[in-house]
Amino acid sequence: MPTTLLSKFTAGATVLAACTAVAACRTARTSDPMADKCVTSVGLVEGAPASVVTQGGGCKSPTRAAAFPAEWRFKAGEQGTMAPTAMVASNNALASAAGDEIMKAGGNAVDAAVATGFALAVTFPFAGNLGGGGYMVIRMADGRTAAVDYREIAPLAASRDMYIGPDGKLTNESVVGYRASGVPGAVAGMTAALAKFGSKPLREVLQPAIRLAEEGFTVDSVLFASLRGSRAYLERFDGKTVFYPNGEPLQPGTRFRQPALARTLKLIAEQGADAFYRGEVGDSLVAGMKRGGGIITKEDLARYKPEMRQPIASTYRGYHLLTMPPSSSGGVTITETLNILETYDNLPPFGSVGYAHALASAYQRAFIDRNSKLADPAFAQVPLDKLTSKSYARELRKTIANDKATPTPTLERTIAEGMHTTHYSVVDGSGNAVATTTTINNGYGSGVYLTGPGFFMNDEMDDFAAQPGKPNMFGLVQGEANAIAPGKRMLSAMSPTIVLDPQGKLLLVVGAAGGPRIITATSQVILNVIQNHMTLADAMRAPRLHHQALPDTLRFESAGLTPAVVDSLRAMGWGIVSTGSVANVNAIMRIPGGLVGVTEPRDRGPSRAVGH
Ligand code: DON
Repeated sequence: MPTTLLSKFTAGATVLAACTAVAACRTARTSDPMADKCVTSVGLVEGAPASVVTQGGGCKSPTRAAAFPAEWRFKAGEQGTMAPTAMVASNNALASAAGDEIMKAGGNAVDAAVATGFALAVTFPFAGNLGGGGYMVIRMADGRTAAVDYREIAPLAASRDMYIGPDGKLTNESVVGYRASGVPGAVAGMTAALAKFGSKPLREVLQPAIRLAEEGFTVDSVLFASLRGSRAYLERFDGKTVFYPNGEPLQPGTRFRQPALARTLKLIAEQGADAFYRGEVGDSLVAGMKRGGGIITKEDLARYKPEMRQPIASTYRGYHLLTMPPSSSGGVTITETLNILETYDNLPPFGSVGYAHALASAYQRAFIDRNSKLADPAFAQVPLDKLTSKSYARELRKTIANDKATPTPTLERTIAEGMHTTHYSVVDGSGNAVATTTTINNGYGSGVYLTGPGFFMNDEMDDFAAQPGKPNMFGLVQGEANAIAPGKRMLSAMSPTIVLDPQGKLLLVVGAAGGPRIITATSQVILNVIQNHMTLADAMRAPRLHHQALPDTLRFESAGLTPAVVDSLRAMGWGIVSTGSVANVNAIMRIPGGLVGVTEPRDRGPSRAVGH
């Protein structure tokens, strides 16, 4: 094994963080590095998970100062947003505020999550949606848990080879246009979660979203730039008149009102999910899709049902994880990865050659299983117990050499088998927690905007193996298990996850956007907190790695590994390349006296944690 290389790092990895009760922490975002280690007037401590800090006296925090490469774009020691009681962390400040408003009015975390989800559909059309689907992991303070699967399903008229052209090659119809959409699950999923775990009526939690659609919100430079960048894609469809009035993208500083969407939301507020699946909204959706050559019918909508599943419950070094089971691959792949990493008595230090080698080797093995064995459990035999077991992880560990990479094709024989989303985390004052990831797949989904109901449709059909063995738009090479079939959920990488400390108390609510990178980024934030003892702010800023088995490439965020570490990994046989950002994570962590929220530092958009 090449020597561990830490010499170019900005701080020593083993320096214990000072734990002094000094400067008054601000409850807003701040860059005051002292605030990272302080006890505040509201009793908050950032700098350690609540479980490992002695409250009300001596401080035994084992939190370590994070060590990032000198050239890495983020500094360690920054601070998140803190609040004593409740918080929402999402990709849009207005949507986070919508959830917080509902909790301030007495709602719980599920009420707030649903309010945030509907608000994102208004203020974040890039990924927030009514025309898509997602997953919600819920852990109530009384111990009840659920994993709401509201993934889209293939329409009844879908067929295995519907995206294979006469030349035998894949067309782009799974990505763009009217035939790319699965039957949306968002409205059914959110309303089902609310009915089971919420405390407020639907019409009340929908109010912030209705207000934002009706009265409008101010277009910011990020929405403007995103629309400018997506022009060629969106102008092909009916969103042209709404998002490019007078031929130009919505201008920054102007107010954007969406009367059609406001009407849809009001109908849902009055009639519940039936308005969407059996009523006026659905009729308008079907008519709009039909006009463009789409295949979703009224029968498809009427048949749609969200699934109330139990989260995958796993452990990592005494911490408990509750994460998303299939039809998402997220929870299984994270669990399998962490189980492999747990077989190391001592994982090498963060940023070292050994750390990157261990993570990449674990991801590679977990993704091989993900790509070949996981699928909608209603259609495929998924070996869930085996893939998430500690004994299987020990077997896989034996295939990892200490000093060299294993090519994916070799592993595939050994193991025997052949962008845009949004995540939000919510915690309320009682300790109820919700992790939700939702998507229309690409930014603005299939590009198809339905002027009747006023929203974009997804292009989730591309998450199937449209031609098993051939890569999809994320380069994922998937097998027969995930082939297209009518009524089937396409496999996802979405990984909403809740972590409890060894005593079973809520610690972390986390998840991400970013296709398969969701899995690697989410698990690395978890590792940074519970394995590398970072503050949440550092855990989110730490450079990330990605490996998804095929392509057989270890990706690292530019300047996120030192050149010497990269050289050593290459010498071990890793095909290693630098990449831009790995995923978009939003997380909340419990700390003594309250909560800290951190939205994706790589994202210059309106992501915000809002709490009280
Ligand atoms: O469900 C999935 O795995 C993908 N449809 C997620 C897409 C995504 O995250 C795009 N992102 N930025």
